[in-house]
Amino acid sequence: MVRLAAEGGFAGAVLDAGCGTGENALYLASLGWPVLGVDVAETALAIAREKARDRGIRVDFAAADAFQLERLGRRFSTVLDCGLFHTFDGTERPGYVASLASVTGHDGTLYVLCFSDDGPDTGPHPVSQGELRAAFSPSTGWHVAAIEPDRVQTRYHDDGAPAWLATIKRI
Ligand SMILES: C[S@@+](CC[C@H](N)C(=O)[O-])C[C@H]1O[C@@H](n2cnc3c(N)ncnc32)[C@H](O)[C@@H]1O
Repeated sequence: MVRLAAEGGFAGAVLDAGCGTGENALYLASLGWPVLGVDVAETALAIAREKARDRGIRVDFAAADAFQLERLGRRFSTVLDCGLFHTFDGTERPGYVASLASVTGHDGTLYVLCFSDDGPDTGPHPVSQGELRAAFSPSTGWHVAAIEPDRVQTRYHDDGAPAWLATIKRI
């Protein structure tokens, strides 16, 4: 996120889908972006709000299901998925992808950072590039602009796990 932000990868209102305890949302909000972090875990949201208070950062956190984002009644220019997509199986992905599309304006950008299948020492539920391209095919309203190898930090890898950073544009 630090690198993406430094490269000018964020614009307008930002949604952090599956924000957990909010580190990414807090970082982006600290740079001045209007950020909403959503999660189904109230305990995680409570921690995220406490961090925001302690750090004096203005950021919104709300309980919301990533499968029903249209209920937010909002549109975002940039959406971030750090570690959420890879938790969904093939039957769940179409609903999630449609939900993301419902809150992302034309030409909006979605970043997906997920465990990759390009080992060694992959995380659980590794995802292939083909699966990403299939999930976000043009018929779903998305265009995969880039998929780059990266690392995702976990609690059980010393130097993170192999990941894909996908940059996906709303058609
Ligand atoms: C691996 S954690 C990633 C947390 C955070 N994005 C990060 O990078 O540290 C995945 C998060 O997705 C949340 N989550 C799982 N299913 C969800 C759903 N249907 N809607 C919203 N959040 C969900 C979990 O509660 C968890 O906080």
